[in-house]
Amino acid sequence: MITIALSKGRIFTETMPMLNAAGIFCNDDPDESRKLVFGTNEKNIQLIIVRASDVPTYVEWGGADLGIAGKDVLDEYDGTGLYQPLDLGIGICKMMVAAKKDFNYQEKISKRVHLRVATKYPNAAKEFFGRKGIHIDLIKLYGSMELAPIVGLSDVIVDLVSSGKTLEANNLVATEEISDISSRLIVNKASLKINREILQPLIKKFSNAITK
Ligand code: PRP
Repeated sequence: MITIALSKGRIFTETMPMLNAAGIFCNDDPDESRKLVFGTNEKNIQLIIVRASDVPTYVEWGGADLGIAGKDVLDEYDGTGLYQPLDLGIGICKMMVAAKKDFNYQEKISKRVHLRVATKYPNAAKEFFGRKGIHIDLIKLYGSMELAPIVGLSDVIVDLVSSGKTLEANNLVATEEISDISSRLIVNKASLKINREILQPLIKKFSNAITK
């Protein structure tokens, strides 16, 4: 049995069409069900639904053979047992620095002022500001980062921006782009060796399903 780990978060609406394009159809609608394991039209392929940030863990430790995870999640994951053969071109957004409209970000950066940064992406934030030579206090949050500058918890946030509506609704502006984000297919390295005859054609199907 081949197990594919998916999450119901941000990228889910684009994940199912991608699976369908690769010829995999879920037997139920995961959005309408509390089940965590789902059969598919392929009798040797099942889907499991896990938290977005747990997808790499399931794949690295063999709870799943394949997974679909955002680059944002993968950049925060410290494991080494993952093979990332494909950028699926779905779940596209940007990792950005954002602040209140009246926060003079450029001036603070040019003066190398110490910044308080709230984020759920500590690796991305440390790497980005480290490269710029800016010292930061990192405040780890698990969601609703936009609140942090509003209530004075931080100077800036590091967060995903897609439509920009969440920033706008909270009177924040993006001040600098950190990186492009999209979803990746990830594969358990040992499983790829053991199940090569099944996984290689499946990876090829995903590759063919990518809309260029
Ligand atoms: C992400 C991100 C922003 C929002 C940006 O949150 O953290 O809050 O989407 O999208 P927008 O630019 O289209 O408004 P998500 O919905 O993934 O939930 P989260 O708060 O759990 O990260």
